[in-house]
Amino acid sequence: MQKLVIEGGHRLNGEVRISGAKNAALPIMCASILTQETLHLGNLPDMHDVATMIKLLQQMGVVVESGEQEARFNGAALNKPEAPYDMVKTMRAAILVLGPLLTRFGEARVSLPGGCAIGSRPVDLHIKGLIAMGAQIHIEHGYIHATAKRLHGARICFDLISVTGTENLMMAAVLADGVTVLENAAREPEVVDLANCLIAMGANIEGAGSDKITIVGVAKLHGASYSVMPDRIESGTFLVAAAATGGCITLTHARADTLDSVLDKLREAGATIAVSGDRIRLEMTGRPKAVNLRTAPYPAFPTDMQAQFMALNAIAEGSSIVVETIFENRFMHVQELQRLGAQIEIQGNTAVIQGCVTLDGATVMATDLRASASLVIAGMVAQGETVVDRIYHLDRGYERIEAKLSALGAKIRRIK
Ligand code: UD1
Repeated sequence: MQKLVIEGGHRLNGEVRISGAKNAALPIMCASILTQETLHLGNLPDMHDVATMIKLLQQMGVVVESGEQEARFNGAALNKPEAPYDMVKTMRAAILVLGPLLTRFGEARVSLPGGCAIGSRPVDLHIKGLIAMGAQIHIEHGYIHATAKRLHGARICFDLISVTGTENLMMAAVLADGVTVLENAAREPEVVDLANCLIAMGANIEGAGSDKITIVGVAKLHGASYSVMPDRIESGTFLVAAAATGGCITLTHARADTLDSVLDKLREAGATIAVSGDRIRLEMTGRPKAVNLRTAPYPAFPTDMQAQFMALNAIAEGSSIVVETIFENRFMHVQELQRLGAQIEIQGNTAVIQGCVTLDGATVMATDLRASASLVIAGMVAQGETVVDRIYHLDRGYERIEAKLSALGAKIRRIK
């Protein structure tokens, strides 16, 4: 198993290019199921989850030609509308094939995702929405088996905001008969990116980015060429790493308009931030100040940035309160941060952090994707050497993270 070895105490300085967004790329790749023609995607990040999605689409019969940061997907010969357990268990986002398969082929068989490190994460809202659109759904042998002659439009009000739920139903609705209205829809920028790609393919969608999305079904979609948006979570992770190490970095190919709540919190922590076009520059002089935060759906503070800010708060001046409202079990990095000397107490979904002047290097274990990023940040500020074990979590969703951090001056290397 691979590990990262980090020598703490080096400031980050320089420029880093932000990759395409994992959480936009995955649903957009699934949009290729919706047409017989070729979907050409650019700015596709090179990471494990994208490779897993390519493998899943290929298993179904989609022809994929991959290049450097791009790929062409052709679903004309798709003949196996099925996502098996071994794929869905490693990448929950595989559930995103359900809506597109059902709406184009009238049938889909997708494994239930099962347990997940950061909480139970059910898919009941996806299923409920598809049933409202006329699908027949049976759960058998751990699989969702969905059939429908042709889905029809419906008014669907989400009980709670779900990102992939919104995306799955939006993709199902583009080829349905009639008008679908999604109320209490997710407003995440990745939902907008997917909608823009679908519109480029001929879909009729209005309101993406608001909590009400209206989709008028069309008979078929055509091919398109689309560039995936920059990753706001990768952007936020590098900015927090720079702030924690007291460094000065510039992100290129980034989108500051998708990062408002994160940039606000970094300014509150004492960073100076300047935005110019697709560049975001952050400078931190002195010790960061502790910041309180509460995760919530976009445009509020993202749950996917909570763990990284916890590492920042662990070495900040003062105490802070972090409340996690999206996932019930997303504090698994806390125990590991404590191994590095962080002073954190958890009560339910609330963490109280007392900032320390410094952390002490140790061996820690990555438990999920963003938890891993938080341990890497903590390792970069800890005294001595930190070894982060089980970094396959990190490789799922960050492109060449140690190479990018090394280029910024971090002392970090991968060992087997
Ligand atoms: C997506 C992101 C993930 C991010 C999360 C929240 C992708 C591929 N992943 O995950 O990185 O952390 O949004 O911003 O885009 N829920 C239900 N029933 C459902 C669906 C969701 O109860 O049918 C609950 C979940 O358990 C969770 C909450 O709704 O408590 C939000 O989850 P959701 O937005 O669906 O997360 P994902 O789309 O899986």
